Amino acid sequence: MKFVKNIPIILALSVTLSSASYITVCQSCHGKNFEKRALGKSRVVKDLKKEEIAKRLRYFKTSNSIMKRFASPLSDKQINQIANVFGK
Ligand code: HEC
Repeated sequence: MKFVKNIPIILALSVTLSSASYITVCQSCHGKNFEKRALGKSRVVKDLKKEEIAKRLRYFKTSNSIMKRFASPLSDKQINQIANVFGK
């Protein structure tokens, strides 16, 4: 029953999140549901595991990647939300 109760919360979160401003910028390269290879270079983020997405975003904060400027402003909470909503 616990799982069933959580479904509306998860749905509401994904709707809110996919139109949140800090996600809009990502979507221009990664696609609305993170289904594209950004700039033909990244992996398809929606196919990655939740933990992998969170790990990569934390790593990018101190990397030389193009992703540094997009990952740096994200809070831990935002990173976890992105990973939970878009990851496997
Ligand atoms: C200018 C285009 C662009 C924007 C905007 C962008 N990304 Fe990326 N993203 C990339 C590229 C290119 C890579 C591959 C970078 C690398 O491997 O160094 C990548 C990699 C990633 C990865 C890891 C995928 C992998 O290949 O391991 C994640 C997760 C990710 N981006 C999430 C995001 C999120 C979340 C945002 C918004 C906060 C965002 N990106 C904004 C271009 C972009």
